[in-house]
Amino acid sequence: MYYADEIIEEIRYSNDIVEVVSEYVSLEKKGRYYFGLCPFHKEKTPSFSVTPSLQIFNCFGCSKGGNVIQFIMNIENLDFVEAVKLLAEKANIILPETGAGISEDELVKKKNLIGINKEAARFYYNYLTAGKGKEALEYLSARKIMKRTIKKFGLGLSPLSSGLLLKHLNDKGYEDRLIVESGLAISGNNGIYERFRGRIMFPIFDIRGNVIGFGGRVVDKSKPKYMNSPETMTYNKRKNLYGLNYAKNSGNKNIIVVEGYMDVISLHQSGIINSVASLGTALTESQGRILKKYFDRIIICYDSDAAGKNAAMRGLDLLNDIGCNVKVLEIPNGKDPDDFIRNNGADRFNNLIEKSSSLAEYKIRELKKNYNIETTDGRVAFVNKMAAVLAELDNKIEMEMYLKKLAGDYGVSEESIYAEIIKLKGKAAFSPAFLKKKTDVRIKTGTFDKDEKEIIHDELLLIAALCLDNNVYGLIKDDLAADDFTKDNRVVLKRIFERLNKNERVVAAEVLSSMSEVSSCALAGIIDKECNFDDGRKPLDIVTKLKKHKLMARKKEIFEILKNRESLGEGDVEKFTRELNVIVMQMKNSEIKTRKEGFNEAKR
Ligand code: UTP
Ligand code: MN
Repeated sequence: MYYADEIIEEIRYSNDIVEVVSEYVSLEKKGRYYFGLCPFHKEKTPSFSVTPSLQIFNCFGCSKGGNVIQFIMNIENLDFVEAVKLLAEKANIILPETGAGISEDELVKKKNLIGINKEAARFYYNYLTAGKGKEALEYLSARKIMKRTIKKFGLGLSPLSSGLLLKHLNDKGYEDRLIVESGLAISGNNGIYERFRGRIMFPIFDIRGNVIGFGGRVVDKSKPKYMNSPETMTYNKRKNLYGLNYAKNSGNKNIIVVEGYMDVISLHQSGIINSVASLGTALTESQGRILKKYFDRIIICYDSDAAGKNAAMRGLDLLNDIGCNVKVLEIPNGKDPDDFIRNNGADRFNNLIEKSSSLAEYKIRELKKNYNIETTDGRVAFVNKMAAVLAELDNKIEMEMYLKKLAGDYGVSEESIYAEIIKLKGKAAFSPAFLKKKTDVRIKTGTFDKDEKEIIHDELLLIAALCLDNNVYGLIKDDLAADDFTKDNRVVLKRIFERLNKNERVVAAEVLSSMSEVSSCALAGIIDKECNFDDGRKPLDIVTKLKKHKLMARKKEIFEILKNRESLGEGDVEKFTRELNVIVMQMKNSEIKTRKEGFNEAKR
């Protein structure tokens, strides 16, 4: 999904980079820069700078750099679209949802629904912490939930009787109709009443930290234990994961998926922040895809009751099918993660993570429970099922490893399992699952040789020069076309040239929006480190250097052509020789010119 450039740009310049960065990094002003400790790598002395005049950031230490959108992408671990959405919300700009078919009215409504939820979360939080929350606070404290955790997850309490929240929301200007639509109130025969009463409230956040719904737990043994917001315009159970707004920033490649609110809260409180909850239901494909975007491996940790097991099994297959690396963590004695941590501590939970089983191991362990391998019939049936699980593995080394391990564990011969696998493999080769895995091709990122790296660097230098002084365009437009540049930069320069041709201004921070992660970091670094122009150079000098590059490349080309002069006609030889002479002359001229202007190449 793409937004129009103008909107992205409006969102970018509506969010001052110093203000946004200051929410995460404490900045100190020094001259025309702000400095602080880089949030993207560990350091003791500040090498992270923000340039307000250019609206860019750059770290001399780890080379991260870009504009405010890229800052949010990096710090919040969001993709471009999500980062733009977050900044749009910050600046109160309404984004058109292209393709989603949502009208402006609906967008306003969506914004209001999020506003209602946020106000309600505040109300419930205050009611718990500064109102009638004594009993509920005691309950939470008995469950070892700390104050800071209550704050981090915005836990609250809904009043026993309906009315207070409604009044609060009405006072904030929200109409009953919309409050009902948010799911916080229900429309009955005698008007509307609040859905959640006398419950500990768990706000449900989306990935950007907006409150999109609630869960509410009773404080006693009454039923239902939990009540949840209904599906609304903002809350889609199947696409949301509780705790992902925090977990996505954990920096961990593994994600632990648990069942409940309390499990996530307990894990996070113990420092295991790479955990989310699917909230009681089996994982959906959408949830799997979201997790795959942020993590390399998914560790399913469901309750060890039958319902939890079934849910785990369904989740495993589903995740495996969409190409996730899955493991299963089983908690002994039928406890859930929250119980376990409360009784045994985080260290022992971490031990369980270490020992979590692969998909094949887990499935086979579960299978075994259905067979009596003391009898021959039982053993044959079990081996056949076990072979079917192994036959699904598309990694031969992995398969052989399990073969050995399982044969040992269950006292059957490797050969007998393998014979069964071979039988099945013939069939498996034609199954859709197998074919799907085969086509899951990974794309390798290209590496450049040294020359190309230098050329790309110099091209970025030109982009920097153009952005810092739009007049540079007048000096290059007759000599350089976008097609002269390497692939990624060509696209960027095409857009810059188009703008400048129309006499529209181009600034670096805007150009950064349309660049890849690698290019934007490089460009921000170049602007910061190489474009101070305090040494008497001008952006123009960069152009001279680049023109020389182009001439040199052509010179090399002609040399190659002339090497095979036998195959050329007499006229061609003359033509290329003449071009070569012109190039040599041009190169000389540009050298004289640059020297005159006091441009000292050696200084760089
Ligand atoms: P659990 O019963 O395992 O809840 O249900 P829990 O999180 O461990 O809660 P505590 O420890 O008893 O407080 C797992 C999840 O299933 C959903 C909730 O999302 C819950 O967190 N659930 C459970 C409901 O939606 N409604 C219910 O009545 C029960
Ligand atoms: Mn529990």
